[in-house]
Amino acid sequence: MKPQKIVILGTGGTIAGRAAAASDNIGYTAAQVGIDQLVADIPALAEGGPVTTEQLAQIDSKDMSFAVWTQLALRVSELLAQPEVQGIVITHGTDTLEETAWFLQAACSPAKPVVLTCAMRPASALVPDGPQNVLDAVAVARHAGAQGVVAVCAGTIHGAHDVQKVHTYQLNAFGSGDAGPIGYVEEGRLRLLRNWPLAKAERAQEAIKKIADLGNEGDWPRVEIVMNYAGASGAMVEALQAQGVRGLVVATTGNGTLHHALEAALLKAQAAGVRVVRATRCLNGQVLAKPGDAIPDSQGLSPVKARVALMLDLLS
Ligand code: SIN
Repeated sequence: MKPQKIVILGTGGTIAGRAAAASDNIGYTAAQVGIDQLVADIPALAEGGPVTTEQLAQIDSKDMSFAVWTQLALRVSELLAQPEVQGIVITHGTDTLEETAWFLQAACSPAKPVVLTCAMRPASALVPDGPQNVLDAVAVARHAGAQGVVAVCAGTIHGAHDVQKVHTYQLNAFGSGDAGPIGYVEEGRLRLLRNWPLAKAERAQEAIKKIADLGNEGDWPRVEIVMNYAGASGAMVEALQAQGVRGLVVATTGNGTLHHALEAALLKAQAAGVRVVRATRCLNGQVLAKPGDAIPDSQGLSPVKARVALMLDLLS
C-alpha cells in the first residue's frame, strides 16, 4: 500500500529560532526559519513517505492568539478529512504548547494523530534538538493506530490532557504529571505505555462550527485565571467582574482550597452568572470533588487548560 501523507504545519517557536552565535542557546529570536527550511534540513524525513509543509503562522508562542487557534483548528479539521492524510505534525513554541494541544484535542478530538512538537534550542544552535523532535513526531504520526492530539519532545509522547511544560531550559522540558507519558519514541519505533487520547467526531464538528462562526478575537468568551496564595483577596475577581468577564478559573492551593476572601468574591461572581471552575496550582494530582462543593472542579485539567475548556463550553 502507498504510504499516506503527513502534513507539517509550522507555527514558529524556538524550533524555528535563530541566534547570532551558534553557542547561544537562550539569546535567540523565536520564529525566524520557515517550515520548508526546517524540513529540508532533515533529509531522513522523506524516507518514510510523502511529507508536505504549510507555514500556518510564524510567532513566538507566548503571543499565541485566538486568531491563530482558529486558523489551526479549521486547517487541522480540513486536513484530517482528506483520506490521503495519515496525520498532522505541528511545530510550535514550547511556552504555550500545552494550551494549543488541549485546545485542538477539545475542539477536534481527532481519530487521526495530530502531533505537536517543538525545541528548547534554536535552529541555529551547535546541537539543535528540533530536527530529532520532528523526526520522532513524524514517526508518531505514521504509527498505525495512533490518534488524538499528543506532544512529542525529547523522545517522549505526552497526551494533550496531561502534558505540561515543567522546565525552563532543559531539552526534556515536558512532563505528564502522575498520569505519565503515553510512550516513547526509540530509534523511530514506538514503545507505548497507555492509550491514545479519545476521538469524538460528533462533538468535534460542533466545536469547529462554533469556532468558524466567530468573527474576530473579541467574540471569544473572556475567561481569566486568578490564583490563591497567602493573603489573597477578592480584588482581582471584582475588577474582572466589573469588566464583564464570563468565566473565571481559580488556581487553588492544594486540593481546591481558597482563602476565605477570594472564595467569597468567587461565590458572589458565580451567583451573578460568571462561570467559576477550581483547578489546582499543584503540579501533580487533581482537585477531588467533595459532596456539597460550591464551585465545580476542573476534572483534572491544569488552570490554563481548564480555561480553554471553559471558553469552549461557553461558546456552545
Ligand atoms: C516559544 O514558545 O515560542 C518560545 C520558547 C520555545 O519554543 O521554547
